Amino acid sequence: MSNLIDGRAIAADIHRETSIRVADLRQRGVQPGLAFLRVGEDPASQVYVGMKEKKALELGILSHTTVLPEATTQADLLARIDRLNADPACHGILVQAPLPAHIDSAAIYASVSPEKDVDGFHPVNVGRLLLGDGGGFLPCTPAGVHELLVRTGVQLPGAEVVVLGRGNIVGKPMASILIQKSPTANCTVTLCHSATRDIASHCRRADVIIAAMGVPEFLKSDMVRDGAVVIDVGVNRIPDASSKSGTRLVGDVAFAEVQPKCRWITPNPGGVGPMTIAMLLANTVTAAERQSKKNQKTR
Ligand code: GUN
Repeated sequence: MSNLIDGRAIAADIHRETSIRVADLRQRGVQPGLAFLRVGEDPASQVYVGMKEKKALELGILSHTTVLPEATTQADLLARIDRLNADPACHGILVQAPLPAHIDSAAIYASVSPEKDVDGFHPVNVGRLLLGDGGGFLPCTPAGVHELLVRTGVQLPGAEVVVLGRGNIVGKPMASILIQKSPTANCTVTLCHSATRDIASHCRRADVIIAAMGVPEFLKSDMVRDGAVVIDVGVNRIPDASSKSGTRLVGDVAFAEVQPKCRWITPNPGGVGPMTIAMLLANTVTAAERQSKKNQKTR
């Protein structure tokens, strides 16, 4: 029996659920709208935004991408976000990271209306996640990892989980999701980072390991106990003389040696990646549902 978690198949299930919600909204005269802002020509960002846009279109979500030059000022970007915040046809706003170094990313993410923050990066949504009140938006990648675990039937309550990496986009929110008092969480979470002593000993105790520190093939087989569940969030480009481009993509997990020890493991690609898009579009539809409900009340 395969021990691979098929992220593409699980994402397809979520897309089906989302498209039913889109049809429901459209029947009530609400067309969900998602705005992308991309600054500069980062090649990975171009690909990611293109993929998100394509899937939005397939699901019947109206999307619009604005591409701004690298030299765009903070004031210009803030003014564009203000206009989108005020635009009733736009239910979700996504400012693709990374932003150029001269832009204060934290200020940009704080300027997106929390009701339209489908990335879950606004401080209000970060706080609501920690509080576990369910009224905000969860960041797409950790929310996608959580869905993978739940829909694969991994027993989370009481599980020992190690999260590798403390980034704001994955590691910190991942830990926050899994510590919530909920039948689909209730985990004991250890968050390891660059100053952790003996990461291997933490990993060897874990029922579930989520690798999101951005170090190519960091997690080796001697760090994983038999029967563990391993989720690889890493996307790292490394030199490879045998490839046409001279590089190739690898995750944070040494997949070939770790897979035989696992109860479940995500392939990479085809594991976490498709889930990020699925959760973004589900968040966008949630935003449209909430905003249309609010408009009905105020009418
Ligand atoms: N860059 C990499 N991942 C993400 C994400 O989830 N959202 C945004 N806005 N940018 C990203």
